[in-house]
Amino acid sequence: MDRIRLANAMTTLSSVACAHANVALVKYFGKRNLALNLPAAGSLSLTLSPLKTTTKITFDSALKHDNVLLAKAQASAAFATRVERFLDLVRKSAKTDLKAHVETDNNFPTAAGLASSASGFAALAVAATKALSLQLNEKEMSALARRGSGSAARSIPGGIVVWNAGKTSNGSDSYAQSIASPDHWDLRMVIGITDPAPKAIGSTEAMELVRETSPSYTSWINETKHDLTEAVTAIKNRDLEKLGEITERSALSMHATALAAKPGIVFWNGATVDALRLIRSLCASGTQAYFTCDAGPQPKVLCPPKSEAKVVAALESLLGIKKTIKCKLASGANSQTSSSTTNA
Ligand code: PMV
Repeated sequence: MDRIRLANAMTTLSSVACAHANVALVKYFGKRNLALNLPAAGSLSLTLSPLKTTTKITFDSALKHDNVLLAKAQASAAFATRVERFLDLVRKSAKTDLKAHVETDNNFPTAAGLASSASGFAALAVAATKALSLQLNEKEMSALARRGSGSAARSIPGGIVVWNAGKTSNGSDSYAQSIASPDHWDLRMVIGITDPAPKAIGSTEAMELVRETSPSYTSWINETKHDLTEAVTAIKNRDLEKLGEITERSALSMHATALAAKPGIVFWNGATVDALRLIRSLCASGTQAYFTCDAGPQPKVLCPPKSEAKVVAALESLLGIKKTIKCKLASGANSQTSSSTTNA
């Protein structure tokens, strides 16, 4: 429908989409381009159920501005502004200026280092483009989701996912792709919740501080490139010991680089450290389990199905762990419904 007709008609264009969160085994922590969310190195992640965002969007010609609800309440100004800026990109592609009502819900704690921005912007990318009938392939959808939050690029595909750093300055080759479907390998991840409160420092702010001030930033980025190549081989060979070793060293190296920033960034609390030590001793005594952690205090443990119950019991034995979530590989983001109405 052209813009003149849209201006005179009451139009609503709606869509609902879901996306799962993802947890990186080879971490992304540093940007080569801040505005376009282009990473300094590639990364590798697992797309995980049950961690899910569901987003409903309605572009409505009666709206004068965007309205964003998060968990059924008015979103903070900071989050609403991020959503608006993202929708501006989608509106530009669709050549429309329709404003939108957005309702987004996570079935897990938001902004606590559990990748809610990844599933959130992936679900928003799918919902907004479907509502406006933009035809994007998976690579284009991943590159679009990346603009909302870098790691959201990895929540578009399912299973085991690699996000290419890319080389182009416009980011056209920086998207994520699945390298193994959920049935290639039954990997599990157990997440311990030590503190569900939103984290003190956002990941973009942390990444920029680290890039500008951490003496180990350059070696961290170079190591990540090497870790990514090794992790892809370990996945092809279903070599969990090797993948686990890379997973732990990538997380520890990311946190070491952040600790060395000026001022140092400490994402962990006491329970995070207790979990790391416990998982290492569990592994040393023969139960395969490997620790990772993102820009927050929640320990996440990679393990095979046969270790899952022991990992849950070990984490729950720690006083500082309030809850555990058992995760499995999930499929990629998808749109559930879309509809449009026009009353002239
Ligand atoms: O999408 P962002 O900008 O919130 O990046 C988060 C990056 C980490 O979670 C810290 C690591 C990763 O690779 O997911």
